[in-house]
Amino acid sequence: METLVRPEGKRKVQVLPDLEAISREAATLFVSASRNAMAPQKKVAVAISGGSTPRRLYTLLSAAPYRDQVDWQMVHFFWADERCVPKEDEASNFKTVYDRLLSKVPISDDHIHRIKGEEDPEKAARDYEADIKGFFGASGLPVFDLVLLGMGEDGHTASLFPGSKSLEETARLAIPVYLKKPYGNRITLTLPVLNNAAQIIFLVAGSSKAMVLSEILRDREKGGEFPAGRIRPVRGTVIWLIDQEAAGRV
Ligand code: 6PG
Repeated sequence: METLVRPEGKRKVQVLPDLEAISREAATLFVSASRNAMAPQKKVAVAISGGSTPRRLYTLLSAAPYRDQVDWQMVHFFWADERCVPKEDEASNFKTVYDRLLSKVPISDDHIHRIKGEEDPEKAARDYEADIKGFFGASGLPVFDLVLLGMGEDGHTASLFPGSKSLEETARLAIPVYLKKPYGNRITLTLPVLNNAAQIIFLVAGSSKAMVLSEILRDREKGGEFPAGRIRPVRGTVIWLIDQEAAGRV
């Protein structure tokens, strides 16, 4: 059973039964995004997230049928954010994706644009920004072909947290975010970069997210109080893939 909730301009919301269903829909969208973007410039730039929700998606993309529908030689992987930990650490967003996907598909190392979480956060953020400018060109905002985001129970996305001044950053592409435990320090892409993407996909599952999700999807103004509610693409589209539990109050 699939429910479409109030397509609003550049925003589409799809409610699907469960995590498996939203992961499969996201895999289909990843394949089409990788194909659509390919034609003009022969390379595709995706920025992906860590956390638990997208893990099933990464596993799906690493195997048939999705794996064989993507020309991995064309895809460049970036991250929406990273935790300030070594890449071998269980909390590493790089590791989350590498173990489930990147180590299983034919992609060359120079297509993996990792955020070096093990380094000093300020240096890691500047190095990451330099890498992004090296790929997209030094001037203007990068246009990621696809950005995959999650949402925390407090409405945070990437490592942009409620009430944080990092939400007001407009000059830098990537910044360090200094947070207390359990989150710890992070590096994150900034809102202007995320909102400049051609396509943004939110993957949200579980009843613990229902309250904030209903605020974000029901009331544009109230929703803007949450970082995830400030994801409003300036040129592209945003698709919210949410499961029944998370949609409980929408
Ligand atoms: C991270 C993510 C973060 C995540 C949310 C949701 O580094 O953790 O980028 O923004 O998407 O915290 O996490 P879950 O999917 O685990 O609920």
